Formats: sequence, structure tokens, C-alpha cells
Amino acid sequence: MTEDGVVRALESALEAAPEDTGVRRHLLERLLSIGRPNDAVPHAHALLAAAPDDPDSLDLAISVFRAAGDGATADALQAGRDATTVARESADEPDVRRAMPVTGDDAILPVPDTADELLNKWDSSTAPEEVTFGELAASDITLDDIGGLDAVKRQLERSFLAPLRNPELAAAFRKSASGGLLLWGPPGCGKTFLARATAGEMGANFYNVGLADILDMWIGASERNLAAVFEAARRNAPCVLFFDEIDALGQKRSHLKHAAALRGVVNQLLSELDGVADENDGIFVLAATNHPWDVDEALLRPGRFDRRLLVLPPDEPARRAILDFHLRDRPATELDLSAVLQQTNGYSGADLAFIVESAVEQCLDESLDAGEVVSLTTAHLLDALEEVPSTVGPWLETARNHVMYSNKSGEYDELEAYLKANNGRGRRRPGFRP
Ligand SMILES: Nc1ncnc2c1ncn2[C@@H]1O[C@H](COP(=O)(O)OP(=O)(O)OP(=O)(O)O)[C@@H](O)[C@H]1O
Ligand SMILES: [Mg+2]
Repeated sequence: MTEDGVVRALESALEAAPEDTGVRRHLLERLLSIGRPNDAVPHAHALLAAAPDDPDSLDLAISVFRAAGDGATADALQAGRDATTVARESADEPDVRRAMPVTGDDAILPVPDTADELLNKWDSSTAPEEVTFGELAASDITLDDIGGLDAVKRQLERSFLAPLRNPELAAAFRKSASGGLLLWGPPGCGKTFLARATAGEMGANFYNVGLADILDMWIGASERNLAAVFEAARRNAPCVLFFDEIDALGQKRSHLKHAAALRGVVNQLLSELDGVADENDGIFVLAATNHPWDVDEALLRPGRFDRRLLVLPPDEPARRAILDFHLRDRPATELDLSAVLQQTNGYSGADLAFIVESAVEQCLDESLDAGEVVSLTTAHLLDALEEVPSTVGPWLETARNHVMYSNKSGEYDELEAYLKANNGRGRRRPGFRP
């Protein structure tokens, strides 16, 4: 293909997927190499808008502005580039002092040698006044974007969204305006996605609590952070607190014989969830895990995460909805999904998303070769499917043992029914035998 043909193919690929920085970088490099830096300038602006602190993008943009004769912009970018490099290099340095509380002029403190020194530092470090929340609050996904999972969506609506939207009605029914719900199930089947959708429905009332918000190297500091999170939630009620991967925080205390610090975190979480009197009114707690068997049983008792929802791999209508969601806005011919749907029993939503991504990549390659947009076809999807095994199999293997050996109070009944119903069906990684 001629150089111009390549540029045209890249431009049309970009039209179909304007947020694809990889393609844009490719196009910039081409335009530079064939001596068309002025045509590259608008793309350099777009690249910087998408990834303003990415060193590779900065380097490329600097070359473009220099080649186009705009030395001033190139110099300004170079200064920013140098600052980013310094910041990154020092962030990469494994320096234990960086984890110390940093105060005022004393930017870098030495590691304390004695207990007294330690206690002094501890005294002068203060808990964050207001915890910064809400990474997920800006989510633009809503429950309508979730394929299938109707029962789960209904329960989320009933537990969180309806009481929040209609506080008077909840009060009239004396429905307690608080509670905890644990989403559990195999990886990639939409637990975090469901939480993002709940955030999309609720906007500012949804707080995503990350592990980094809580865990701290100081003994006692993690508990204090957790308390601060609940304090802030109480001030901002009604709201939903979301703990993803709760097994990392609320591990079985029997597993933590040698990790006293984490045991304290579990205890703190328990006492925060219990609250005093009605101080937790209006605080809904949502959590997700793919290792429910590692979660401390005490967290699952009434009043805490007493409602549990199993999020299973999608059934056929759900798979269709998931594929439709990920295929929307892609240049595609009339697709016949029936063969794909038949062959993806036992695939997770993430596996399906990956199949679509791989098929799209293939189309992009073909478009580059052909110099025009090649639409996505059923054959592309089937080819991609050949390469992508289900990732749910290994999880089901582990789950089977828990179902068989530790289903004492029937907590895994629903999973057991799923395992039985799916005996021998679906495509799995080699070695998976249900
Ligand atoms: N029901 C669904 N509808 C649409 N997309 C889905 C669905 N389930 C999963 N996906 C896709 O799969 C991706 C991964 O799902 P998600 O991160 O929610 O999995 P998870 O259950 O939280 O897994 P893990 O246990 O590994 O954290 C989502 O970002 C989404 O693209
Ligand atoms: Mg997740």
C-alpha cells in the first residue's frame, strides 16, 4: 500500500474509533515520516488531550511541533515532559520513608529507631478530615447497559435504588433504610460492572472505597481510615459505600493468625457495620468478591452483609445483550450471533467483551491492509472465539470443592444447582471437568 493509502486507512480507522490513541500515534508517526508535520498538528493536540502525561505521547507531540516549526510549544511540552519523568522516577523508587506521614517542612522523615520516636510521629500524623470518595460516581453506565442478570438488577433496585429514590415510601413500610449486600461469583461476570451501573444510577451518593483508602502501614491507622470512611458516609447519608474485592479487607480472621494488623481491620469493619443505635440509617453497603469462602463469616451475619447475590455467567439472552452492548457503535455488517451464542455457554461477560475486542482488532488490521474500512462480520467473531477460552472454568473448579466440602448452612446451594445444571456443557479450558 502507498504511504498515502496507509494514512487514509489510519484516518478512517480513527473516524470509527476516535478515542483509540494507539491508532492516532501510529498516524502521527506516519505523517512525520513522510514529511507532513503540519497535518499531524491537530492529531498531536488530540493525543495530548487524551493522554496529557504519557511520556511517549509527549515525545511524539514534541517532535511534531518542532517539525512543524512551533518551537515554543515544543519547549513548553519538553519542560512538562522533564517534570513528569522526575516525578515518575521518584515514584518508582522503593523508599520506605515515602510511606511515612509527611508534614510541612519536614518533607522526608527518617525511619524512627525507637518506640518513643515512633509514638511522637504517630501523634503528629492526623487522620484525613474528609475522605475523598467517588471515583465511580462519574460512571456513565446504567443498569440498562448490563446484559441479562435480571434477578440481580431487581434486587439492587429493591435494596438500594428504590429506598433512596422514595424515602417516604420506605419509611411508611418501616423498611430499614440501611443494610449490606454482597455480590459474589466467578470473575468477569459483572460484579464490578453492576456496581458501576449502580453508581451511574445514583450519581453523587455512591462512594467507591478502594483498598488504598484504607490500608496503611501504621498499626491502627487502617482502622482509623475505615472509621473515617464510615464517619464521612454518616455525614453524607443517604449513600452507598462500595467495597470491591472485600475478601482482601474482610478476610477470615483464622487466616490472619500472623497478621494481627489485618485482624484489627476486620474487627473495625464489623463494629462500623453494626453502628450504634440508628447511626447507620441511610448507609447502604455494597461489596463484591470472587472468593466468598475467604470472607470472615462474622461479616455475613444478619445486619451486616446479610443479603448475598450470586452473579453467574450469563445465560443465552444475557450473552446476546452483552454482545450487543460491546458491539454497539462498531462498523459491522448484518451479524448473525446464533452460532457465537451457542458456543459461548459458560463464558463470562469479560470473555465475551474480549472476543469482540479481538474481532475488532482483526478488522482494524484488515482495514489497514485494504486501505478502507473493513466491517466486522460474524466470521470475525467466530475466528476470535476460537482463540479465547472461557476463564470461568478454573474458578468453578475451586468453587466445586467449597460446594462439596463447606456448604454447611446452604450458602452455596444456588451455585451447586448451577454446577449440576451445567454438568458437561459449555466450552472450557482443557483440563476442566465439572
Ligand atoms: N452483564 C454484563 N453486561 C455487559 N458487560 C459485561 C457484563 N458482565 C461483564 N461484562 C464485561 O466484562 C467486564 C468485566 O466485568 P467485571 O469487572 O464487572 O467482572 P467482576 O465480576 O467484577 O470480576 P472480578 O471478580 O474478577 O472482579 C466488564 O467491564 C464488562 O465489559
Ligand atoms: Mg470486580
